[in-house]
Amino acid sequence: MEITIARSYEEMSAISAGIIAREIKRKHDLVLGLATGDTPVGTYKELVKIFKEEGLDFSKVTTFNLDEYVGLPPLHKNSYNYFMWENLFKHINITPSKVFVPQGNTEDPEEFCAWYEAQIKKAGGIDLQILGIGGDGHIAFNEPGSSFASPTRVKALFEQTIVDNSRFFDKKEDVPRFAITMGVGTILEAKKILMIVNGKRKADVVAQFIEGPVTSQITASALQLHRHVNVVLDAEAASRLKRTEYYNWVRDNKHLVQKEVGR
Ligand code: PGA
Repeated sequence: MEITIARSYEEMSAISAGIIAREIKRKHDLVLGLATGDTPVGTYKELVKIFKEEGLDFSKVTTFNLDEYVGLPPLHKNSYNYFMWENLFKHINITPSKVFVPQGNTEDPEEFCAWYEAQIKKAGGIDLQILGIGGDGHIAFNEPGSSFASPTRVKALFEQTIVDNSRFFDKKEDVPRFAITMGVGTILEAKKILMIVNGKRKADVVAQFIEGPVTSQITASALQLHRHVNVVLDAEAASRLKRTEYYNWVRDNKHLVQKEVGR
């Protein structure tokens, strides 16, 4: 895992958007996995800026969102589909037929989940997956105890997730109790992963997933098993990490590898 500690939310967002833009420039038909929540809002704003100012081309990019609440129609203001259109898609030149968000109001969730997995495979697999982390250590809606081999499926939300996400709803009782979510297994199949985290609220869980044991009780810790993970944090989210000095040294001195090779 490569850990980058940014000074602020703004810097974290700019670094993350830079990583995504670089991948799109490298591969115009990138398959991009997307996340929702407060964390990536700044990253999406930066991407819109790069689109407007530098003409970053999204027209050939295919996107797959991580999750969606069961029961919410795509145009519901609390749906993740709505979130994605408001925060990113409507501001860039994405091709609507290349946008995939799980359908919360599908009549047959099980069949839908199998179809969604098949679409990811048909697109050639996810090249770069964006992730946030929940207060309970979840990635997507893979709540504590989720199998590391899990595919896209319906998952019951953990009480802490319902409380955390109630801030977006009128009242806690309105938060759906189930979600369709990519599995930990689906996420681990992505070629590259970019995890973004900000805020003091996440400091403990960040220390657990990066420096603690691999455990299904903190599903983000599964990323320790992945080949290519970038974690971009703000200083508050990084405040409980023990090896910050090392991470910062690596960030500032990566270029030395070339010098060492040429010695
Ligand atoms: P947040 O959610 O970005 O709103 O904190 C992250 C998550 O639950 O994955």
